[in-house]
Amino acid sequence: MKLFDVYQINEITIVKAQGSYVWDENGVQYLDMYGGHAVISIGHTHPHWVERIEDQLHKIAFYSNSVRIPIQQELANKLEAVSGKKDYQLFLCNSGAEANENAMKLASFHNGKKKVVAFRKSFHGRTSLAVAATDNPAILAPVNETANVIFLPFNDEEALENCFKKNGNEISSVIVEGIQGVGGINVATESFLKKIRNLCDEYNAVYIADSIQCGYGRSGSFFSHDYAEVNADIYSMAKGMGNGFPVAGILISPQFKAKHGMLGTTFGGNHMACAAALGVLEVMEKENLVEQAKQRGMYLINRLKRIEGIQNVRGRGLMIGFDIPDELKDLRKNLLTNQNVFTGEAKPNVIRLLPSLAITKKQVDEFLEALQEEIDQIKNKGNSETPVEEEKVITEDL
Ligand SMILES: Cc1ncc(COP(=O)(O)O)c(C=O)c1O
Repeated sequence: MKLFDVYQINEITIVKAQGSYVWDENGVQYLDMYGGHAVISIGHTHPHWVERIEDQLHKIAFYSNSVRIPIQQELANKLEAVSGKKDYQLFLCNSGAEANENAMKLASFHNGKKKVVAFRKSFHGRTSLAVAATDNPAILAPVNETANVIFLPFNDEEALENCFKKNGNEISSVIVEGIQGVGGINVATESFLKKIRNLCDEYNAVYIADSIQCGYGRSGSFFSHDYAEVNADIYSMAKGMGNGFPVAGILISPQFKAKHGMLGTTFGGNHMACAAALGVLEVMEKENLVEQAKQRGMYLINRLKRIEGIQNVRGRGLMIGFDIPDELKDLRKNLLTNQNVFTGEAKPNVIRLLPSLAITKKQVDEFLEALQEEIDQIKNKGNSETPVEEEKVITEDL
C-alpha cells in the first residue's frame, strides 16, 4: 500500500532524538531549531516525560470517557496552576484543528450566533470550520466554503470596530493567534487584543485565543495573548502540550455552562495523553521553562538583530521569525545541508525558529555561528559569481 502523498518531505530519516538534537539513520546529528513544528516544548525524549508515559502504559492506556478518568482532573489542576487561569474549565481533544473547531462551536452554542471573525494570514487548522477561518483558499475544499467567516486585516482596530458596528448582532466569535505562525511570525499588538476583548464584551461575542502554536510557554508567557493583560474566553492548545504525544484541549472560562453531549470525542483525554501532558507541565514548572524561553528568546533576538543581511527580526520568546532577502534565498536549505540545522519557514521569505523551550545558551550560540557561516558562504559565492546549485527539497510547513 502506498502512503497518500500529501507532504513535501526532506530526504532525511530521523531515528533518535534528545533535547534539542536529533540523529538520522547514519548517525548524523542535527540541531533542531524547528521543534518538529513548535511541538517539542520540554525537549525531545525528556526522561521525566518518558517515565510518565511508560508508567501509565503499564497501568492502563485507554478507556473511554464513559468512566471516571482521575488523571484528567490531575491535568486540569496542574494546568490551572501553571497557566494561572483560575476557574477555567478544560475540554480535552486530540489536535489543534479539533480544539479550534470545538472552540468556535462552543461559542456558537453559547450565544446562538453564527459568524466568526478571523484575520488575514491566519492559520487555524484543516477541519471544516477551522479551515474556513484559515486565510488560505488553496486548502479550502468547496464543501468547506461558508459565508459565516469574515476576514479582516490583522492588527487593524478600525476595521474590527467597523465590522462589529455593522455585524455585531451576528458575530459569535473572534479567533486570533497571539503570534501568527504559519502567516510569518506576526505579533498581535496588545492594543488590538484589548480591542477584541472590549468589542466581544460589548456585543456578546466570544474571544478565542488560538494558542496552538504560540501558547504553552513558547512566547515567554504561558499564553502569548497574556501580554495584553486581558483574558480570552477560550484558549485553544495543542502542539507543545504533549511534547510530541498527540493531545490538545480548550480552556473555557467560567461563564460557559456545559451540557451532556454538547462536545465529545473518543480519544480526547485518554490516560496516555494525560500522562504525557502532565509530564510536560511538571518539567515546565520544575525547570522554569517559561521564564527560560523568555530569556533565551531575548538573547537570540538581540543577537539576530546584529547579523547583517537578514531583515526584520521579530517575535517573542522562542517564536522568532526574520525575512531573508532574495540573495540569501538558499539560506534555509544550506543550513540543513551544510550545517545540519533544522529551521522552519513561512512563505515566501521568512525563516521561523521554534526550538524547544529547554534549548541551552550553548546551542543557541551554535545556531548563530552556523547561521553566520552560511550567510558568509552565500555572500562569498555571490561575489565570485559561482551559480548556486539546487540541492535538497525543503519541507513546506504545515
Ligand atoms: C495557530 C495554529 N492553529 C491551529 C493549528 C492546527 O493544528 P493541528 O495541525 O494540530 O490540527 C496549527 C498548526 O500548525 C496552528 O499553527
